[in-house]
Amino acid sequence: MLKTVAILDGELRERAYDVYYECFAPLQVAAVQQHLMSRADFDEIAADEGTDKVLIADDAGAVVGLTTITNDLSKVSLVSNDYYEAHYPTLYKERKILYVPLIAILPHCQGRFAELVTAFFQICVTRDAVLGMDVCDHNVDLGFVKAIRLLTERCAGPEPESGHKPIARRIDAQSYWLFDPSGRHL
Ligand SMILES: CC(C)(COP(=O)(O)OP(=O)(O)OC[C@H]1O[C@@H](n2cnc3c(N)ncnc32)[C@H](O)[C@@H]1OP(=O)(O)O)[C@@H](O)C(=O)NCCC(=O)NCCS
Repeated sequence: MLKTVAILDGELRERAYDVYYECFAPLQVAAVQQHLMSRADFDEIAADEGTDKVLIADDAGAVVGLTTITNDLSKVSLVSNDYYEAHYPTLYKERKILYVPLIAILPHCQGRFAELVTAFFQICVTRDAVLGMDVCDHNVDLGFVKAIRLLTERCAGPEPESGHKPIARRIDAQSYWLFDPSGRHL
């Protein structure tokens, strides 16, 4: 079951934070960039009505996953609004770029990811919009992008009515480097 709320508060916020932390803490050692938000930043997003919070619940109603989605790119840290405005002016102006800053699903809840991507696909189709995400290399290597691409193609079906097929385009990348002048440390 997926439930979308504008504001996360009380017990629900606590539970959502626990799920978020459990999913994202391992990235602290797997990825160079800081992916784990501070509790203060999490609380800010939880209280921000401009970012929808999608909660994933198990059969007993317990929160087992969380994702956020917004069509207001100014809410997404580390994203340049100027870039999107310059490169995708119509989509930007019409707020048809839906950004998903985070997806967190507890490890024992396999299968919910497909449900989530299907829901994203339907939102995009309804709003004639595109979906934006940033993905670290670690997750690319785990097959994260490939999985979303395959699920999106499955949702679109073998012969989409429009004749247009789903596209996944990497629009930028960032790499991190260490330089060792002595050649002894790396
Ligand atoms: C990424 C994540 C949401 C996937 O949810 P899940 O329930 O594990 O999804 P599934 O098991 O159905 O796997 C879906 C696909 O995601 C990829 N995947 C699996 N575990 C992953 C992980 N820990 N991190 C990234 N991608 C992963 C795989 O390619 C998988 O495809 P496959 O089934 O063809 O191998 C979940 O593992 C998670 O919360 N990871 C930590 C937070 C994170 O990295 N979020 C993504 C960036 S915002």
